[in-house]
Amino acid sequence: MTREHWGSRAGFVMAAAGSAVGLGNIWKFPYVTGDNGGGAFLLVYLGLVFLFGVSLVMAELVIGRTAQRDPIGAFRKLAGGAWPLVGMLGVFTGFVILSFYSVVAGWTMAYVGYMASGALATTDADVLGQAFTAFIGEGVRPVVYAAVFMVLTALVVVGGIGRGIERAAKLLMPLLFILLIVLVVRSVTLPGAMEGVRFYLTPDFSRLDAEAWGAAIGQAFFSLSLGMGALITYGSYMSRQQALPSSALSIVALDTTVALLAGLMILPAVFAFGFDPGEGAGLAFVTLPAVFASMPAGTVFGVMFFVLLTVAALTSSVSLLEVVVTYLVDEWSLSRRVATLAAASVCFLAGVPSALSQGAVGGLVFADASFLDWMTRLTDLLLPLGGLFIALFVGWVMGPAAVAAATDDGRAPLPLARVWLWILRVVAPAGIGFILINTLLS
Ligand code: PHE
Repeated sequence: MTREHWGSRAGFVMAAAGSAVGLGNIWKFPYVTGDNGGGAFLLVYLGLVFLFGVSLVMAELVIGRTAQRDPIGAFRKLAGGAWPLVGMLGVFTGFVILSFYSVVAGWTMAYVGYMASGALATTDADVLGQAFTAFIGEGVRPVVYAAVFMVLTALVVVGGIGRGIERAAKLLMPLLFILLIVLVVRSVTLPGAMEGVRFYLTPDFSRLDAEAWGAAIGQAFFSLSLGMGALITYGSYMSRQQALPSSALSIVALDTTVALLAGLMILPAVFAFGFDPGEGAGLAFVTLPAVFASMPAGTVFGVMFFVLLTVAALTSSVSLLEVVVTYLVDEWSLSRRVATLAAASVCFLAGVPSALSQGAVGGLVFADASFLDWMTRLTDLLLPLGGLFIALFVGWVMGPAAVAAATDDGRAPLPLARVWLWILRVVAPAGIGFILINTLLS
């Protein structure tokens, strides 16, 4: 059987950007930036994205395209030995992420209805805060919404690569982007917004502790869908004709632009309405309704926004589930249908504790952080760890062969190729290792 390939280069870039752009940009990035003091965190984040992110996105795509297999099979085919363990780490990380991702995506879906009902049409920080806390603390609806979201994800994945993912991504991503710009304009022109803009764009280096560095690298990997094989998997559906370095650059640029805009949408409004930038995982959900309440036709914009955010989450969750499914199909010869059903069910069950940890079940809070928070922290460690091994693999095991594989005619512009190789061989592994160790020791 010949392997299915992306219909076009634009289709691949949009699908990979669809994987990258999601709750990580719009829900996680603003609150993590707020938690870690704003401007200085932003600088570190951008530095890590451009120093490590671009090179690693390329590295994953090279592995996938060369092997034309799932992450575990790819490592086995290209090197064998203990390397397939890196693929297994990735599949496991995908499971962990999807388990809590579907919970937060469930909140997003619930907010579509909330916005439509008009119940959140206020700029009162207390009212909005309580509404959110009450909802996520419920015992049933958050679980049901997570289940619905998982079903939607599974339906797209069963549709296969070309038809399902590509079509959805191509159509809806540009729409989200436009809406984001409208909201940034509203947010930064609110009375009192400038304090938020300053918080976001003026670095205060005293806030940069080991924890902030760890959060920044975790966020960079999470946002770029990096370190767990999603891009190996998407790369495995790439054909030789698709330009790889420029694709990687476009993906990183798009993802980073959306994150920057999301920060500029949320943080000024946080200050304008008197929310707490260190609010944590609820930041976007309590702040955005206030932004909508202060603009004409806010209800319509609000509904549209949460619908599009759900779709953005879907194009990301699809890539998470796809990693597990491609693995089951390639390695266990399961049919796509059976593999999807099995993976989605187990993942949903693994997400139930996250859904119930927001107040419904008190025992799911440990050392002041909820089970869901612990899952995001675990992710912040696992993704960079996966990335470290991927860098070493492409840098040392594939080596110059990777350079040839990354360029379409096999001829690399040499100085740049060398820089890339040495980032993968030394700079990225040392940098990631250093940050991870520091975070663990702090
Ligand atoms: N990048 C996605 C987001 O920002 C999340 C994700 C992480 C998707 C890892 C795939 C792999 O929402």
